[in-house]
Amino acid sequence: MRVLSGIQPSGVLHLGNYFGAIRQHLDLHRQHDCYYFIADYHALTSIRDRVLLHQYTCDVALDYLALGLDPEKAVFYRQSDLPEVTELQWILTSVTPMGLLERCHSYKDKIARGIPFDHGLFAYPVLMAADILIVNADVVPVGQDQKQHIEVTRDIAQKFNNLYSEVFVIPKDMIREETAVVPGVDGQKMSKSYGNTIEIFSEGKALKQAVMSIVTDCAPVEAPKDPDTNNVYNLLKLFAAKEETSEWAEKFRKGGLKYSDVKKRLIELINLEFGEARERRKEISARKGFVEDVLASGVNRVRPIARETLSRARVACGLD
Ligand code: ADP
Ligand code: TRP
Repeated sequence: MRVLSGIQPSGVLHLGNYFGAIRQHLDLHRQHDCYYFIADYHALTSIRDRVLLHQYTCDVALDYLALGLDPEKAVFYRQSDLPEVTELQWILTSVTPMGLLERCHSYKDKIARGIPFDHGLFAYPVLMAADILIVNADVVPVGQDQKQHIEVTRDIAQKFNNLYSEVFVIPKDMIREETAVVPGVDGQKMSKSYGNTIEIFSEGKALKQAVMSIVTDCAPVEAPKDPDTNNVYNLLKLFAAKEETSEWAEKFRKGGLKYSDVKKRLIELINLEFGEARERRKEISARKGFVEDVLASGVNRVRPIARETLSRARVACGLD
């Protein structure tokens, strides 16, 4: 099975990225043929500062490596090192109906939030289709918010295959139901662009501040509470073992529970989960040139596959 996924370097990675996507990427990469990349072309639609784009790109690479990605097992590269995807994007753009893109939620949501409207934002799903189709991926592990983009990819691939010839593999999404939408500190979907994140690598004071800012209701301590609608509980259950999660649920329902105690436990669990990765991150970031070498070797591994697919697409539509 060939697996592909990308993550934008558009900010500091957070628990939503970890549970929604990164953890699946790590779980899959020891058994399958995996391709993971840093989607810096996509990030151009939101990051307009060259220094920041460099910084975030390097941070995403460090985060993945520190969290346990083995670059010998998965092919790990930077999207803009593979400009073949942009040529394929144009070929795909030419068979993409406007209506397909006009229906995309992610672009409509961004417009609704007043994010400036440009063509890159609108064409974003076609570039994503090119990322996926160029390596002939079977499966794309992502969070729920990307589901529609994979559907668009399937539609574009089918349209091309029907119009010309069977060039593209039709990919499927892979979404873990229990972590499909991780809530942010305000209870909305956690997202870099909503300013409601808890960062994977934050520690000490910054972590405490983020966890303490999780919004809760102001019901009195003794009142029984519904765990399922509670932001702290919903974050805690991502980290706690099953038994501990049930014990907390029980305490919520019984009443007499202080939210500050649950938050303290959540901080402990976050420290346990990411403690080792934090140390590894410090060690890797001190190794000069390491990240660049990993990404350079990754793109060398994916390029022959990408060139092969691109060449078949060019021949199919008459660009040979
Ligand atoms: P953001 O919304 O913070 O910009 P991205 O769009 O870069 O995050 O998402 C990167 C990956 O993480 C995608 O696969 C996405 O589905 C997943 N993801 C992001 N936020 C969440 C969340 N709150 N819950 C589950 N998955 C998420
Ligand atoms: N759009 C994805 C996100 O914001 C990132 C991405 C770009 C991607 N290209 C991809 C994900 C291809 C999966 C496959 O999260």
